[in-house]
Amino acid sequence: MCVPPHTLEFRRALTDVDEYGCLKKRFEQATIAVLRRFACPGRNAPGCSILAGEITHAVGKYLLFKRREIYSVRVNPVALITGASRGIGRGIALELAKIGYDLILNFASNAAAARQTAADCVAQAKEAGQKIQAEIFQADVASAADRLKLIDHTKKAFGRLDLLVNNAGVAPNARADILEATEESFDRLIAVNVKGPYFLTQLAARWMIEQRRTGVPPVSGTLKIITVSSISAYTASTNRGDYCVSKAALAMLTPLFAARLAEHGINVYEIRPGVIATDMTRPVKDKYDKLIAEGLTPIQRWGTPEDVGRAVAAIARDMLPFSTGEVINVDGGFHLRRL
Ligand SMILES: NC(=O)c1ccc[n+]([C@@H]2O[C@H](COP(=O)([O-])OP(=O)(O)OC[C@H]3O[C@@H](n4cnc5c(N)ncnc54)[C@H](OP(=O)(O)O)[C@@H]3O)[C@@H](O)[C@H]2O)c1
Repeated sequence: MCVPPHTLEFRRALTDVDEYGCLKKRFEQATIAVLRRFACPGRNAPGCSILAGEITHAVGKYLLFKRREIYSVRVNPVALITGASRGIGRGIALELAKIGYDLILNFASNAAAARQTAADCVAQAKEAGQKIQAEIFQADVASAADRLKLIDHTKKAFGRLDLLVNNAGVAPNARADILEATEESFDRLIAVNVKGPYFLTQLAARWMIEQRRTGVPPVSGTLKIITVSSISAYTASTNRGDYCVSKAALAMLTPLFAARLAEHGINVYEIRPGVIATDMTRPVKDKYDKLIAEGLTPIQRWGTPEDVGRAVAAIARDMLPFSTGEVINVDGGFHLRRL
């Protein structure tokens, strides 16, 4: 005997399948369960006044309603962080985990480090009373095909994107005077440090706009894009001109996308770190130890990945809702002119 989908019994049938993982799976399971329960798998089933297609449609509508309910109860915002296996990206991931972000942790080649970061994020979140998922995904941000895969994977894994953090970046393999440095090194740095984040931002922004259009309920006020540049955007280091040029070019990403995306409720920020203790700066540790001791920065210490992560978390928590295109220096005051 068929029962109209709006009756109590129909709803009870659906609660049986609410435990299943993602919504698509839940939809499929619910449809099958309802068809089985009411034994009307096809058209004109004996004693059945509802077509299978109608039931499927009703189940779909019901789950859409249910999904809104679920969203309003508890859904984690989702952040995609590039270069999150080590260093600053890892520091950002740990801070976002603490405030309840689900994470896609991108890396280039070091899968072991990425797995470790994912496990540490889940543990940190738990300690902070949050329950999150952290997934790792290998992709070279310089590759168009990889960027597409990265966004597609985020769609499949979480179905939403609240925050993109463009963090992945490389230093020249060998520091070389600008009178000697090679075109090959220049091309590599422009590809990873500029082209990668620029076009990944384009992909993410299109998806965020689509999310707005299709009514994916926002977890917080604004969607956000944060790009990690460097004090090298304005500081001349003649032994790594390619790096400085790449970071200066990258600094234009934020005003461009901030101006374009504000109408869609997407805020865009640049975080500009100073000297931060990571694998990238390990080879020049002694040099910077000395410079810091001599007063390079008013706050006389190395910066840490956590320092940068906490600045990202402040934005992620919606602490700057009426600011966009903003540059946030996380540099111990390096940028201050002093007399
Ligand atoms: N450290 C500093 O003092 C400092 C200062 C200012 C700005 N920054 C900037 O902050 C960002 C992070 O620097 P960091 O010091 O944390 O560097 P790091 O310790 O060398 O870590 C780099 C991260 O980026 C990933 N990565 C490298 N190339 C990639 C690519 N083509 N595609 C995807 N991921 C890639 C690495 O993945 P794998 O682990 O797989 O290699 C790793 O997770 C960079 O943009 C850097 O320019 C750093």
